Parts: sequence; C-alpha cells; structure tokens
Amino acid sequence: MLPHTQFTTLERFILNQERIHPEATGELTNLLYDIALAAKVIAAQIRRAGLVNILGAAGAMNVQDEEQQKLDVFANETMKDALNHTGRVCAMGSEEDEQLIPIPEGVPAGKYAILFDPLDGSSNIDVNASVGTIFSIYKRVTTSGPGQLSDVLQPGTAIVAAGYILYGSSVMMVYSAGKGVHGFTLDPTIGEFLLSHENLSTPRTGKYYSVNESNFGRWSKGVQLAVRGFHGDDPDRMKGKNSRYVGALVADFHRNLIAGGVFMYPGDIKNPKGKLRLLYECAPMAFIAEAAGGAATDGRRRILDIVPTALHERTALVIGGADDVGYVSMVIAESEDGA
Ligand code: AHG
Ligand code: MN
Ligand code: MN
Repeated sequence: MLPHTQFTTLERFILNQERIHPEATGELTNLLYDIALAAKVIAAQIRRAGLVNILGAAGAMNVQDEEQQKLDVFANETMKDALNHTGRVCAMGSEEDEQLIPIPEGVPAGKYAILFDPLDGSSNIDVNASVGTIFSIYKRVTTSGPGQLSDVLQPGTAIVAAGYILYGSSVMMVYSAGKGVHGFTLDPTIGEFLLSHENLSTPRTGKYYSVNESNFGRWSKGVQLAVRGFHGDDPDRMKGKNSRYVGALVADFHRNLIAGGVFMYPGDIKNPKGKLRLLYECAPMAFIAEAAGGAATDGRRRILDIVPTALHERTALVIGGADDVGYVSMVIAESEDGA
C-alpha cells in the first residue's frame, strides 16, 4: 500500500497561519524556515556523532565555565550561519558566545533579534541520549543600524515567536508565535518537518515531576517541601507524582508538555539563581508553556515578566502544568512567610 499523501509541512502550516493572521509578516515565516534548516543540519550531525569520532570536548570552556562539546560548537556555528546573512536579523545572542553576535559587514540589519541555546543537554551526546536546541525571536527596539544589547535584553513578554527542536528518538520542532503551540516531526526519508501535534495543550496537573534531586540538601525549605509534596507527602493538596529526569531541559520539558508534569531547576545555597539561563532557556520555554495553557515562574515571579539585565543571567525555573506550578509557588510562599 502506498503511504497517504495528505500531510502538512512546516512551510505550508506557517504560510496558512500567515493568511489567517494578516499582521504576520513573511519575514517571521522565513526566520522559522531558517531555524528549521539549521535544525536539520544539526540533527544530521548528531545522528552521525557516534560514527565520525567527533565525540568529546573541544578543549574550550564556554562563558559559563562549562566544558564545550564539539557538537556545541558545530550547532552554534550552524545556527549563526543559517541566520546571519538573510537581512532579517539585526543581532543574535547565543549561550556559547560571551558577547552579542553582530551581523556580518555588508549584510543589512533586519528587524528581528534572535537568541538561542544551540545545543541543550550537551552532556547527553556522549551517551546517545536526547538533546535539543532552543530559540526565541524578538522585534528589535532600536530603530536602525546594527542591533544593540537593548534589542536582546527584553522580557519574555516581548517574544514574537519561540520554540525548540528535540533530537530524540525522532526529531521534533515545536514552536509558538503566541497563538497555539504546534509540533512537527521530521520525516527523515523526505527531509521535511510534518505537522504531527497541532494546538498542543498541557494538562493543568500532570503525573511527572522532573528535578535534579541530588541538590535536595542545598534547596530552601520551601522547595524541599514542594518536592516532598510531589512525593505524596501533602496528599490533601497534591497527588504524588512519578519522577523523570533526562538532564536536558528540552527533553524533560517536552515529555511534561505532552504527558503532563512539572520541571524545576530551583536555586540553591551554592547557586541562588539556579543553573539555567533566562534568555536562552527559561524565557522561550516559558513562552511555549504559557501558550499551551501551562505556567512558568522562578518560584515566585512569572518568568516572562523578568527584565534581563545581562545576556547570560540565570534564573530559578518552575515550569509545566498551571496547577503544579501554582502549588510550588504556594508552598514556597507559605514557607517564606512563615519563616
Ligand atoms: P546545556 O547543555 O545547554 O548547558 O544545558 C544543560 C542544562 C539543561 O538542559 C538541563 O536541564 C540541566 O542543565 C541539567 O543540569 P544538572 O545536570 O545540574 O541536573
Ligand atoms: Mn541548555
Ligand atoms: Mn547549550
């Protein structure tokens, strides 16, 4: 039997969206294609990682003092190459670059600023587990010339579109331009992202919680109590959950988005603002979570409201089903107010 031919490519879907929302510009559409192309190139390289002996550290530390894997460098260059020559972007920011990334000379500065974590969960590469790419797109706030820091230091509420690519057992691109969250699965036989998850919504409360519990002893009392609640220790207010932790935000978030759950990377005594970066990881994921009916906070404040002051700033993160995230905030507030 021949496979059926009724399918919607990412390209067709975005074009349709543009027709429904005439305020949308072709430029944003093209930016999403540019990112999808980069994703395919990165996916192809990840698939070959075990074969071509490119495993291991590149010998450089990134600005966060973490060892860069070779694929971090490759993914970063691929994202930059896919986006910097198009005239659609005025500046970029990447987890792997200390400074704002300018557009090459001779290329006109476009009206969007883009931020990305080119390879999220990179320590998973050496063990053949899931990794991801996270991106967010903002309209520039400066009016002309090369993009400035102010174009990327915007709160998540100003995000125009955001999304992630999950390089898992299949490759998926999930994005939102504010109206709905849509998922596309890469068909490797034809090299196209096909619509597989239209209008994703996430359960208000889920069966999973995802957190690195080896940090338990360093958390605040409130965070400890919230996680105990997920263990089932607060049965009047929270049903016990199952634990799942991949160690790649994209993979943990994606599972919880689809199956229902909450992911946390709280601050601790050593790192009061946790580990994850506001601009490259937390704000884009918060944008997706909210567009799917979920929520994201730092334990108190809404992530999307935080106004960044530095490119690489970190924040604590609680993200997932709205009621589960609300529960964590409630328990933290009770503990702090009672302390
Ligand atoms: P990256 O590979 O971009 O540095 O991100 C890794 C992050 C995130 O993806 C993941 O959720 C978290 O680090 C895991 O950290 P722990 O190993 O401390 O749990
Ligand atoms: Mn990351
Ligand atoms: Mn990364």
